[in-house]
Amino acid sequence: MEALRTEALDEVAAATTTAALKDVEVRWLGKKGRLTALLKELGGLSPDDRKARGQALNELKRDITDAVAQREIAVAQAELAAQAAGERLDPTLPGLPVDAGRLHPLTRVIDSVEDVFERMGFHILDYPEAETEFFNFDGLNIPADHPARDTQDTFYLADGNVLRTHTSPGQVRAMRDLKPPFRAIFPGRVYRCEATDASHEHTFHQVEGLMIDRHVSVAHMLHSMMTLLTGVFGRPVQVRLRPGFFPFVEPGFELDLRCMVCEGAGCPVCKRSGWVELLPCGLVHPNVIRHGGLDPEEWEGWAFGLGLSRLVMMRYQIDDIRWLMSGDLRFVRQF
Ligand code: PHE
Repeated sequence: MEALRTEALDEVAAATTTAALKDVEVRWLGKKGRLTALLKELGGLSPDDRKARGQALNELKRDITDAVAQREIAVAQAELAAQAAGERLDPTLPGLPVDAGRLHPLTRVIDSVEDVFERMGFHILDYPEAETEFFNFDGLNIPADHPARDTQDTFYLADGNVLRTHTSPGQVRAMRDLKPPFRAIFPGRVYRCEATDASHEHTFHQVEGLMIDRHVSVAHMLHSMMTLLTGVFGRPVQVRLRPGFFPFVEPGFELDLRCMVCEGAGCPVCKRSGWVELLPCGLVHPNVIRHGGLDPEEWEGWAFGLGLSRLVMMRYQIDDIRWLMSGDLRFVRQF
């Protein structure tokens, strides 16, 4: 009996894998196992012998069962440890790329424009894209026979309203909404019924700037526009101011930006002129102040209408305006 016990327990101790241990268990305790065979032989013994030998065999069976169960735990732990060692975490491996979204370049530039003007105490306002003819034209001193009203430039809606052709209608709205003196910008989409090409889109973006106070000058306006441009580009810019005509300003100007793509040498983006028309502006016409419900003898203002799409193209050196509204993810993922 002792020899059997030693043999069985040695085999259990020698098993180093779960599979080997299972073999040992089957060999001893299985249906055709050695111990099972010995237990079957008990039937042929005398009652006294059967009792003594049966007890001894059952003790042996219990000892083997216990030994197998204990060994099972040790073997499983060793196997797990071996597996873990093989699969050790390497913290220096690069992570899996995260497919994060991107901000559209227009959003980025609008954010930085808003940032600049918020720091100068400007309100940021949002006005409707579907406008009345009054706010889009009449209120801005644009007479009924002005060519800009032509259906070639303006999208007319079935209800007689228009899709705003510029952000300037916000000038009259802001004067009616806010108590002067105030400063505000209103960025947004504008629409024009025109054929598209690399520099024309039917839908594009502008930012209107407006300041109303008792005495404002072209110097105030220039300072704001220069702060805007250096803020967006993060470096000094070169500009030139030319006279420009718009019915809602007097005097009116065009502020041109020295091309940031070619530094003025001439390239396709600036049409080889070295300059880009970017910021029409001027002192608000007294008629517009009046339409805003204010007395032009008391209140003065300046306004600009920044070509935001063009600014984005300058900022990121984009050579075709149609990319901006294309919805093409390959485009957006570059920024
Ligand atoms: N609204 C004009 C345009 O879209 C630009 C402008 C704005 C001019 C403000 C002067 C003052 O062309």
